[in-house]
Order: sequence, then C-alpha cells, then structure tokens
Amino acid sequence: MGRTSKDKRDIFYRLAKEQGWRARSAFKLLQADETFRLLEGLTRAVDLCAAPGSWSQVLAKRIYEPLGPSERKKVKIIAVDLQGMAPIEGVTQLRADISKKSTAEAIINFFGGDKAQIVVSDGAPDSTRMHEFDCYVQSELILSALSIATYVLETGGSFVAKIYRADNISRVYTQLKRFFQDVCVFKPSASRNSSIEAFVVARQFCLPEGHKLCNLTSEWHDHPEASWVVRLKGDPPIVHVPFVAYNGDLDSDRTYDLGENYVYREAVQQPLTAAYQEVLKKTGKVNLKYKPIKVVHDNELYVDWRKAASDDAVSDNK
Ligand SMILES: C[S@@+](CC[C@H](N)C(=O)[O-])C[C@H]1O[C@@H](n2cnc3c(N)ncnc32)[C@H](O)[C@@H]1O
Repeated sequence: MGRTSKDKRDIFYRLAKEQGWRARSAFKLLQADETFRLLEGLTRAVDLCAAPGSWSQVLAKRIYEPLGPSERKKVKIIAVDLQGMAPIEGVTQLRADISKKSTAEAIINFFGGDKAQIVVSDGAPDSTRMHEFDCYVQSELILSALSIATYVLETGGSFVAKIYRADNISRVYTQLKRFFQDVCVFKPSASRNSSIEAFVVARQFCLPEGHKLCNLTSEWHDHPEASWVVRLKGDPPIVHVPFVAYNGDLDSDRTYDLGENYVYREAVQQPLTAAYQEVLKKTGKVNLKYKPIKVVHDNELYVDWRKAASDDAVSDNK
C-alpha cells in the first residue's frame, strides 16, 4: 500500500493535513460547533484527553485567535492528556490522568475562582480488542470527565464527550441528565458510520439541589445516602436521548479520487509521546517470545484461561 492510500480512503485525514489540523478529529468538534454553536463568545474552556491537540487547535481558533491582544489575556483554555503535546498558542497544557483527584484540583486551580463555560473530552482508552471491556473503560472515562465538569462548569455551561454506543450507555445518559437540561447524541460525518463512536452534547449545566460534589465513578461507594443513589436502587431505567446527525457532503466511509492538483503532505504534528513508547522502554532489551493461546468458546459462561493454556500445551505435544 502506497503512502497516498490513506489520503484516498480517508477524506478527513487528507483535509486535516491540508488545513493544518493535527488530527482528523478536529472536524468532529468543528461539526459539533457548526450544529450547536457551542463555542460562540466563550473565553474559558477545558479540553480533556487532548493529545495530539486538534480539538485544542479548534478551541484556540474559535476562542483565542479572533480576539485582540488585551482581550486574549482573558482567555483561559486548558488541555489535559496522559501524553505530551506540542504547544498551541493560547492553550495551557497539563500532562495528567483525568481520573485522578489531583488532576481535577489542578484544573480548578487553573481557573483561579472562575468557572469554565465548556468542557470537552475526546478521551478513548487504548483498545484491548475486548469490546465490552473497552466500552466499560470508555464509560468510566466519560464519568471522570463529567466529574471534573461538575466542579469547573458554570451554570448554563456545556459538555461534549466521546461515547461508544454500546449496551451500558444508558448509565452514562442517566448521569448526564442529572446535570444538564439538554442532552443529545451527535454523530459527525467525520466519524465513520461503521464506528460505534458518537458524541454526547450536553447543554444547560445545572447542579442538582443538594448534590455533594464528588468523583462520580465512586459516588455509589462514597455517598450511598445520596438521594439519587437511593432512588436508583434496583435496575436503573433505560434512558434514551435524541440523536442528531451532521448533514454534510463528505462521507468518511467513502474513498475519494486524489484529483489532478493533489500533493502528498506529511502529518501536521507527529505525536511527541505515545503510550507504546513506555512499553518499548520497559521491554526494549527483552526478547518477548509469546505463544498464542487458543481459546475455544463453547456455551460456557466463563472460559478458564488455565484450561485454554493447558489445552494448547496438549495440542503442541501432539
Ligand atoms: C482520540 S485521542 C484525542 C484526540 C484529540 N481530541 C485531538 O483532537 O487531537 C484520545 C486521547 O485520550 C487520552 N487519554 C486516555 N485516557 C486518558 C486519561 N485517563 N487521562 C488523560 N488522557 C487520557 C489518550 O492519551 C489520547 O491522547
């Protein structure tokens, strides 16, 4: 496969490079903004799980760049990620884990008594290819982002976060509806139809009366007396929210011709760090000889890894 093949297969990847965005994800936030007018007139924003930084670029372009020098001083944008990010003018960076209390505290301190008007999160865990596990970790990441939002958002503020439309997603909608008067699911055309990815767009933030600020991922444990927790004992009801799709000309599942004037471009910004670098550092000199384990799924609920490994050893000896 030639180096131009991704440019053919992915129009948003190609456009991102042409327009100077660090990642094709930029179009997802741009399309959300075009649809919901989320960024108009804002000066304070939080970008969670921000690396390599295309959403931060969008925030800077919409919020910071249009202003003159004295007004720019009022702008506060903070980008947080586990990975390092090349600098973006107008955006302060924090390299941290959004599920940690210390990260929430650092973001609160950054605003110095002010509140953010929007919190966005494009967070995604590294895929383990175990679908249900990935979806679970993803929903925990959203709850971490939402927890931070409950501390830093001003009344009336907005929250945008990547979700996976999977079985347990109603749990996330339930949480969002506690804090936002208007919640919907948005599918940008820059997000492939074939992907379970979508975005929640939650507007009109309002802390419910009596809510004790806390990390929502452990609220069940830390505040079992909370009225919301008590109300939901037993099976939580299935919650549905409206679905809004971006109606654009370009289709991210289609292959486009490159055209006569096409010029190949390198990515705008190579990642500064990547999760796999840490693994390479630790395993650099270790020769990993792994043996695949054959797992036979019959109608059992549990597949015992010990059994799978010993079955494999038997078949090796044959
Ligand atoms: C899809 S990328 C974000 C792309 C980004 N919005 C952009 O436009 O360039 C997902 C990011 O989530 C980050 N991430 C995953 N779990 C995280 C966590 N617990 N805390 C902070 N960042 C996290 C990853 O490091 C990764 O950079």
